[in-house]
Amino acid sequence: MSANLKYLSLGILVFQTTSLVLTMRYSRTLKEDGPRYLSSTAVVIAELLKIIACILLVYKDSKCSLRTLNRVLHDEILNKPMETLKLAIPSGIYTLQNNLLYVALSNLDAATYQVTYQLKILTTALFSVSMLSKKLGLYQWLSLVILMAGVTFVQWPSDSQIDSKELSAGSQFVGLMAVLIACFSSGFAGVYFEKILKETKQSVWIRNIQLGSFGSIFGLMGVYIYDGELVSKNGFFQGYNKLTWIVVVLQALGGLVIAAVIKYADNILKGFATSLSIILSTLISYFWLQDFVPTR
Ligand code: C5P
Repeated sequence: MSANLKYLSLGILVFQTTSLVLTMRYSRTLKEDGPRYLSSTAVVIAELLKIIACILLVYKDSKCSLRTLNRVLHDEILNKPMETLKLAIPSGIYTLQNNLLYVALSNLDAATYQVTYQLKILTTALFSVSMLSKKLGLYQWLSLVILMAGVTFVQWPSDSQIDSKELSAGSQFVGLMAVLIACFSSGFAGVYFEKILKETKQSVWIRNIQLGSFGSIFGLMGVYIYDGELVSKNGFFQGYNKLTWIVVVLQALGGLVIAAVIKYADNILKGFATSLSIILSTLISYFWLQDFVPTR
């Protein structure tokens, strides 16, 4: 059963990552009148959708009894503030990480950013070994290095991408620092969440409600700080269209699937699954969308 869930969750992660990348790319190239949606509000909506989905899953686990659901939520979340508070750490780190990636993308071109961000595959392995006492054999370390090299080559900027944008050395440095810190935060937050999931009894959905609650609070703070003025002028849902909702739902689904992958598989396999999705989106880009020609 659990082996099935492991491969099912990894398979869905490949599908989810691929569709999210392609939909986001499509939504960016789409020309529409009026203001663009604010990504800070999309993050909050995705967190809220995730919480609703997790409450429904806990409801299902409570044999569809509202009374049991109410009791579980009270007992496991409100009455265990110290357990709930543990999730503030990965949640705060993920929020910081999302902001760092924003800094990175403002200072680096997208390709360089993606290449350097793959270092998270190795930081994740290092944190898994040090925090979860996972043992990796020689072949597993070799696979990780080969995977990282492969992913880096796949995303290596082509000549046309390099000369499209001149970025100053100072800004490159800021961007690189932001990605490097994000690699460590990604590895640490993922492994910390895995440790909490595997070393305590609470269900993955309860843990995700706790993570999402802090995520929503931090996310709302982000909306206020970055886009407060725009929101008060044009509203929270400015620029939302059908595609925005698809992106938001896919993002929320991503949070659920990542949680399931971390529970039934682990963070290292998550790295392999997302890499598989790079191959899949490359194939779809080439054969179906015809907007990408692979180089040698
Ligand atoms: O780049 P990385 O793999 O670290 O990104 C993980 C993403 O998954 C983060 O944006 C984080 O907010 C999200 N996540 C989630 N729910 C979890 C674990 C991670 O939404 N339980």
